[in-house]
Amino acid sequence: MPMRPEWSWFSESRFGMFIHWGPYSAWERGEQVLFREHLDQADYSKRACAWSPRAFNAAAWAECAVEAGMRYAVLTTRHHDGFCLWDSAVTDYSSARQAPERDFVREYVEAFRAAGLRVGLYYSLADWRIPAYWDGPEADPKGWERFREYVHAQVRELLSNYGRIDVIWFDGAWPHNAEDWRSLELVDMMRELQPGILINNRLGKVGAKDRVSAGPAGEGTGHSAAMGDFGTPEHHITAETSRLWESCQVTTWRLWGYTRGERWRPADVLLDMLVESASKGGNLLLNVGPTPDGEFPDEFVERMAEIGAWMRIHGEAIYGSEAGEVCEFVTVGRQTRRGNRLYLIIRFWNGTGTLRLAGLATRVLGARLLTTDQPLDFTQTADELVLRGLPADSPTPLFPVIRIECEAAPAAADWAVDRLWSGDPARMTSWARARGTSVWADGVER
Ligand code: GLC
Repeated sequence: MPMRPEWSWFSESRFGMFIHWGPYSAWERGEQVLFREHLDQADYSKRACAWSPRAFNAAAWAECAVEAGMRYAVLTTRHHDGFCLWDSAVTDYSSARQAPERDFVREYVEAFRAAGLRVGLYYSLADWRIPAYWDGPEADPKGWERFREYVHAQVRELLSNYGRIDVIWFDGAWPHNAEDWRSLELVDMMRELQPGILINNRLGKVGAKDRVSAGPAGEGTGHSAAMGDFGTPEHHITAETSRLWESCQVTTWRLWGYTRGERWRPADVLLDMLVESASKGGNLLLNVGPTPDGEFPDEFVERMAEIGAWMRIHGEAIYGSEAGEVCEFVTVGRQTRRGNRLYLIIRFWNGTGTLRLAGLATRVLGARLLTTDQPLDFTQTADELVLRGLPADSPTPLFPVIRIECEAAPAAADWAVDRLWSGDPARMTSWARARGTSVWADGVER
């Protein structure tokens, strides 16, 4: 998959906001309540049309994203329930033509752009209201064709009427494949309308063999390995090797749309997902489900403020970083890299004042605790780097970061690369042999 220069902002950003919002928020039971609870379709659409969020203020949302250190966002312009958040010419089932009488997509795009953020649009191919979606192209070729044309027309609107769009994020292709959706035609159209756009990998499978190998089994059904500029591992963080990727995650325990009484993950767990994604060379798209009235829940805003405060001090370890599992470090934290710099992002602070890193082969020129901007004393031998003078108490409630300046791009000694899990185990023989060869404590054969 070619990596285009106009996509470099994506890796540079590392951190984005996913926003799941629509009339379903009024049920306060997640974004899939229509289907999950087998609700009456007519009642649902009546109530959806009456949904009228008064507090929605796109500038306030954008401010929260900026405050958190996010660099882009993706908004659900239409979820599986089919309700559109923009003024679509091909349906009246939208926020523009029903109670709110507002084009929420326009407000979002304008406010987020004005705040300096990149803008993405999520669009569900699935529309649970439409019988042809369920019947599929074989059972109902006419109905399917009409529905597919509707989908194509809406994608055209979204990419024609709102200026530059940086990301288009499809979902809900399942159970139909890329051929059913005519996804290749969609891609051609999108590239023509928005030459720089990044298209995700959920436009349906391309051929029987197409599936994403990494990740939980079910994920292969809707995610394509063959089509898509970036991968979208969902609820897990698994690197893709041949294209960009972004892990999408909830801030609560399970649901994407607003859910009354949902539990929230604490700030350190959320930040750890960002750090893990960066350490593996990918992005984190972190979700919020705004309230029915259009505000971000307090729990979300509080957590974003905590993460943002951390990002303002430690952002250089995240933005534009590269995958960084240079040395084995899992017992302490995670690593990222940038040029000759290695960042140690410390998850567990032991308070001993020293930190030992085994196996860094590159000569170290200096080390600094970024959190307090304190230079650190160190000694380095062929096998180990020992950092000294660390404070007893963690200097931040989140993760302290140490920046190590190396003479060249940081690299591990041959024996130290991934030594427990891969590579030739015989690399470790001479290390073991240094003790001796026997089972006895002194290693001597008898
Ligand atoms: C799933 C769900 C959907 C959610 C999406 C986010 O595919 O169907 O509710 O919007 O994941 O990645």
